Amino acid sequence: MTLNAPTSTPGAFDPPPHPYDRLNKFKPVCEAHDGGIVNLSVGSPSDPPPAAVVAALGNSDTERGYPASNGSPEFRAAAAGWLSTYDGVNIGPDDVRATIGSKEFVAGLPHWLKLRRPDLDVILYPETSYPSYAMGATLAGCRPVPVPMDDNWRMDLSKIDPADASQALCIWVNSPGNPAGAIEDLDAAAAWGRERDIPVISDECYISFTWDSPGRSILSNGTDGLIAVHSLSKRSNFAGARAGFYAGDADLLHYLSEVRKHSGFMPPGPSQAAAVVAFGDEAEVQVQRGRYTERMQFMVEILAEMGISAELPAGGFYLWVPAPEGDAWAFVERLANDLGILVAPGDFYGDAAPGYVRMAMVTSMESLELVRQRC
Ligand SMILES: Cc1ncc(COP(=O)(O)O)c(C=O)c1O
Repeated sequence: MTLNAPTSTPGAFDPPPHPYDRLNKFKPVCEAHDGGIVNLSVGSPSDPPPAAVVAALGNSDTERGYPASNGSPEFRAAAAGWLSTYDGVNIGPDDVRATIGSKEFVAGLPHWLKLRRPDLDVILYPETSYPSYAMGATLAGCRPVPVPMDDNWRMDLSKIDPADASQALCIWVNSPGNPAGAIEDLDAAAAWGRERDIPVISDECYISFTWDSPGRSILSNGTDGLIAVHSLSKRSNFAGARAGFYAGDADLLHYLSEVRKHSGFMPPGPSQAAAVVAFGDEAEVQVQRGRYTERMQFMVEILAEMGISAELPAGGFYLWVPAPEGDAWAFVERLANDLGILVAPGDFYGDAAPGYVRMAMVTSMESLELVRQRC
């Protein structure tokens, strides 16, 4: 049977291999090392969420009824209160809507924006970045248009073609950025979008992990034309429970949340209840910051011993490391063979950085000690 085989129709979407699946062939050689694989490829937290957050998952009494698509009043108040602790941010519960983690929102947004403005079709996003910005555009039948980056891995807004800007449904900004950890000029991004009536969507899921300066939200510029996207996946090691939110421009929020309600997006009640506790926690975030700092410093030392110079990032918990001779895939293979480490090559994050690898510092110090012993 050929049930409407997707590739038979011109223009049909054929899902590419998921980037991380392309690393599977290196896993056996990593596993063969004494002590097994040290997986630094996916940025999936392995440290525990705060105990009170896990406890709240079990005793919320929210399982039997449908949860609020927009987020419960308690969830929205806690999220708004937390984000308003950042300099210049002043939002309330009505400025917030819940999401099921942030990836579904990142990948779905172009589709919903296109429903609102079918005459536009461009999604602008940082050229070297989290792949879901471009994938979301593709899935919506939009044109993903990468914005070139400067030498410090920040978007160079002056390089955006005015013809693309005139067709733009939105521009993504990501600060601290994945993979390079750069801090973007959020004020410049907000001003750029407002001058052109283009919504600026700021993915701030690493805001709790800035190292040289306090975390900043684009909403320190007010909410008009701006949306900040947040997640508890990284901040509270809560990726498995899928809790996030978006906040900002009243008109956009209203439109997006109505469409999402029709589509059945409902962040699970227990996750929402636990998120309320997580937004109130700062102590465990500080502990987590210490873990990432220690691991990143340790790994930079190991790389230095190998003759590879890597810098600590300004934000996030990834090391963005230039590969010897600029060959990322050869470096991925060497690290797997010699040290049992799995890392992600730069081309997972766009075409512009093939000479880098990304190392996610999500494994324990014990596993990094193993790596040192293998050197
Ligand atoms: C930049 C960025 N945005 C969004 C996400 C999605 O995270 P989640 O869906 O767990 O909130 C990630 C995950 O790694 C990310 O790196």
